[in-house]
Amino acid sequence: MPSRKEFLQIGSAGLLGMFAHRYGAFASEYSPAVQQMADGEVDWTHVQSEFDLKPEITFLNNGTMGPSPRSVVRAYTDRIQEINSTGHYGGGDHECVAALAALLGANKEEIALTHNVTEGINIAAWGVPLKKGDEVILSTHEHVGNAGPWLNLARLKGVKITVCPLGKDAEDTLRLIKKHVSKRTRVIAVPHIPCTIGQVLPVKEMCAWARENNIYTVVDGAHGTGMLKMDLHDMGCDVYVSCCHKWLLGPKGTGYMYVREEFLKTLESLQTGGYSAEEWVLTEKEVSFKGLVPTAHKYYYGTQSAAQYYGVIAAVEFHQKIGPANIEMRIRALNNYLFAGLKDLKKLKILTPEEEISRCGVVSFKFDKYDDHQFFEDCQKEKIVIRFVGENNLNCVRVSTHIYNSEDQIDKFLNFVKSKV
Ligand SMILES: Cc1ncc(COP(=O)(O)O)c(C=O)c1O
Repeated sequence: MPSRKEFLQIGSAGLLGMFAHRYGAFASEYSPAVQQMADGEVDWTHVQSEFDLKPEITFLNNGTMGPSPRSVVRAYTDRIQEINSTGHYGGGDHECVAALAALLGANKEEIALTHNVTEGINIAAWGVPLKKGDEVILSTHEHVGNAGPWLNLARLKGVKITVCPLGKDAEDTLRLIKKHVSKRTRVIAVPHIPCTIGQVLPVKEMCAWARENNIYTVVDGAHGTGMLKMDLHDMGCDVYVSCCHKWLLGPKGTGYMYVREEFLKTLESLQTGGYSAEEWVLTEKEVSFKGLVPTAHKYYYGTQSAAQYYGVIAAVEFHQKIGPANIEMRIRALNNYLFAGLKDLKKLKILTPEEEISRCGVVSFKFDKYDDHQFFEDCQKEKIVIRFVGENNLNCVRVSTHIYNSEDQIDKFLNFVKSKV
């Protein structure tokens, strides 16, 4: 892996040659422009032209929502049109599960389709076998989507929440998590990459250690999918909850939950219905119910949006065509460029760790002498979209960059920051 300095020297185009392309087997009817990338080095300007973002907007807030490339929008809208012109409303779910499983290094049986991260966390929180007094570890950097479900479980079921700070780097974070574990700890439920400062946590090491100590791991992976090249089997968590509407650039209101095969029996589903309930009989003479299907399909049920599933398939296809490693490297290169520029400005406190393995597509910072919320408002007036982070009283600003961003946009942002320091 090249060093941070090397990333800046080589630039993203040079970096691409260092990584083998891994193109998926998805035949695309939607991405002719992306198709061309399969044969050579990725042309990032070309990739940027696949998005309909207005040129006057500098969108640096992928951490909240990822704009979709045209191929995704087309897959989605075409399907809506087809549904309404033919009356065939279903389909796409098996293909969607298969596409996600292939992208994420998981089996099809381990993927449940959801609508967002919060839904998956709620399913996981209520499905883990916990009793009053059992402890769940969360971090001081939670989004309400991870905090809310566990706090509600504590309220209604009497489990205890223990809150762990993040360390200054991966090793320190791992040390702190271990330190916060007690004899009653049953679950570690921290984010892979928190919404606040985008620090990448050492989840693989954490999950291995937790397993050895009979502790379940439920990882809030809102920011992992589509940012990092992922292999969920290798990560080793029991549950990974994510969405397709951020870094995967899929339709909004789409997500998934991964449940490790061996954990499927342990993680209950409190709700069921069409497609997740197995054989049942309800007559005056007989009431019987075989239970739920044995796969992760037991966590979702009923009529879903086929159009959204086709949009997710197109988003996975878009990622596979460019190559998840190429995407991660491009995101890292842009982040390094931004990080170095912010560091040069000096009169700022960068909250995201500098350590390469502890960051990827996000950097958060505070001004020494300028009001951070005012800066956020100034950005809005300039049509620069970033996020203000109020969680954990951090009161900082967060900038996230993805493959549709350019060095020019980062320069524009850095100049704007410079005008305020
Ligand atoms: C770390 C984290 N967890 C959970 C969520 C909630 O995601 P969703 O809106 O998909 O439920 C977010 C959203 O920004 C997030 O950043």
